[in-house]
Amino acid sequence: MRNEIDKVGSSVDIAGVAHVFQRGDMVTHAIEHVDLTIAAGEFVAIVGPSGCGKSTLLRIVAGLLRNSSGNVKVAGRDVTGPQTEIGIVFQAPVLLDWRNVLDNVLVQLELRGLDPAKYRDEALRLLGKVGLGDFTDRMPRELSGGMRQRCAIVRGLIHDPPLLLMDEPFGALDALTREQMRIDLEKLWLDRRHTTLFVTHGISEAVALADRVIVMTPRPGKIDRIIDIDLPRPRNKEVIASAKFSEYCEEITECFMRRGVIQY
Ligand SMILES: Nc1ncnc2c1ncn2[C@@H]1O[C@H](COP(=O)(O)OP(=O)(O)OP(=O)(O)O)[C@@H](O)[C@H]1O
Ligand SMILES: [Mg+2]
Repeated sequence: MRNEIDKVGSSVDIAGVAHVFQRGDMVTHAIEHVDLTIAAGEFVAIVGPSGCGKSTLLRIVAGLLRNSSGNVKVAGRDVTGPQTEIGIVFQAPVLLDWRNVLDNVLVQLELRGLDPAKYRDEALRLLGKVGLGDFTDRMPRELSGGMRQRCAIVRGLIHDPPLLLMDEPFGALDALTREQMRIDLEKLWLDRRHTTLFVTHGISEAVALADRVIVMTPRPGKIDRIIDIDLPRPRNKEVIASAKFSEYCEEITECFMRRGVIQY
C-alpha cells in the first residue's frame, strides 16, 4: 500500500493531445488541442456531449489507446503503454459471476500478483463504507445494479491506486441510487485522496463531486471551459441546495446552450 507521503495521488499532464480514428476512408477527429494539468489528489470531472471524445481521452490517459499527437504524463512519466498504477471503473460493472462480492474485489490483487489475504480487511472496510457490509458473501446475481457497481468501485480502489479513472460509473443507475453513490464516492475520495478523473453526462453530479469541472465542446472535443468549484466538503444537502451550487450548474448549462448542445 502507498505510504502517507504519497497519499495524495499522481498528477496528470495532458499537453496538446489530439486523437484521430481512421479505418479506411473513415476518419473521425475525436479530440483536438486538449491541454489539462491535474494536480495530485485533485478531483476533476469532465462533462461533454455524447461522442465528444471523453472516453477516448480517458483511454489515452490509461495508456489503452495511443494518442495521435501531443503528450500525456502520469506522475511525471510519459504514458507509453497500459498503466498499472491506476484504477478504472466503467459504466457497466464487469463482475465474475462465479465469485462472491469479496472475491470479486480481491481479484484485483490476484491479477497484480499481490497477496489477497493482506487486503482482506481493507476490502471488508471499503465494502462496509459503500453499504455492502452485509453482502460480502453474496454472488453478483443476488445484487441490484447499484450494488454491483459499488462492488466494482471498491475493486477499482482496493489496490490503492494513486490515479482513479471513472467513465460514467453511475450511468446505468436510477436517480436515487446515483445520488447515494455520489455521496459514497466523495467519502471514499476524502478518505484516500486518489487523483480522480470522472466522466459524466450529469451537470449537477459533476459540480457536486469535483474540484474542477472541464466542459467539452461537441466533436472534435476540445476544452470549452474549466470551472473551479469553490464549495465546501463534504458536499452535503445544504451545499447542494445553495445558490452557489445552482450558479455553477447554470454556468455549465449556458456553455452547452451556446454550443447548441442543449436547446430549449
Ligand atoms: N475504436 C474506435 N474506432 C473508430 N471510432 C471511434 C472508436 N472509438 C470511438 N470512436 C469515435 O470517436 C468519437 C468519440 O468517441 P468517445 O467514445 O470518446 O465519445 P464519448 O464522449 O465518450 O461519448 P459518450 O458520452 O457517448 O460515451 C466518436 O465519434 C466515436 O464514434
Ligand atoms: Mg464515453
